[in-house]
Amino acid sequence: TDSAPAMGDLQGVHVLVTAGGTREPIDPVRFIGNRSSGRQGVALATAAAERGAKVVLLAANIDESVLAAAERPGVRTVRVSTTAELEQAAHAASAGAEVILMAAAVADYRVAEVSDRKIRKEDAPGEAPSIVLTENPDILVSLVKAQRPGQVIVGFAAETVEDEEELLERGRRKLARKGVDLLAVNAVGWREGFESGENTLHVLDSDGELVRVASGTKREAADALLDAVVEELEGGPH
Ligand code: CTP
Ligand code: CA
Repeated sequence: TDSAPAMGDLQGVHVLVTAGGTREPIDPVRFIGNRSSGRQGVALATAAAERGAKVVLLAANIDESVLAAAERPGVRTVRVSTTAELEQAAHAASAGAEVILMAAAVADYRVAEVSDRKIRKEDAPGEAPSIVLTENPDILVSLVKAQRPGQVIVGFAAETVEDEEELLERGRRKLARKGVDLLAVNAVGWREGFESGENTLHVLDSDGELVRVASGTKREAADALLDAVVEELEGGPH
């Protein structure tokens, strides 16, 4: 559903959005995943396209009913599943992108040895198997390493915290580790953040300054974050 008319402040700007959550296979029928629905990323892709951007949306395991909202001229959707697939697709698309919005929830670890057939209980009766994990590459850090002049890179962080002070403190530490231009931090818990339609993004710039509190529907939060991105494109320090 198109609501607001295109504001056009991202006219012709190439935007890469990653969204959803990566999955790491254990065996042919099982995976390790996370609860990211992809709604915030889809809202970002949709909002950017309505503001005139040419969007590539890398969709990691997003439900088709959620993804349908992004179906419009100006958005090219590529479906991926594992972190390795997302990494490859992100690097392929990043070269042509002036803006990168890394909204996907990326699995920090993958299964060290994926079983090529289903793990069965009768393989080891009465014993719970242990799954050995290995660390995934940090896609965002590698995109920042390859950053081109003028390119704006935005990271996202979902944190379980007690209060806003802890949220910002964690956000600032993560910002320093990632080297991004903007970091959008949001509080999550067992209920908030994932399946819900509403969101609050605390947007920090590269100095750790809180430049926006983007709140409301995921679409409203997306538009407020894009306002901060436009400011970065216009004159942020690069
Ligand atoms: N990210 C990434 N590659 C990874 C892990 C995270 O690109 N392997 C990106 C996410 O897409 C997000 C940002 O990094 O934009 C922050 O993710 P987050 O999971 O909050 O950060 P981590 O460094 O993994 O720290 P944590 O221990 O809190 O999970
Ligand atoms: Ca992580």
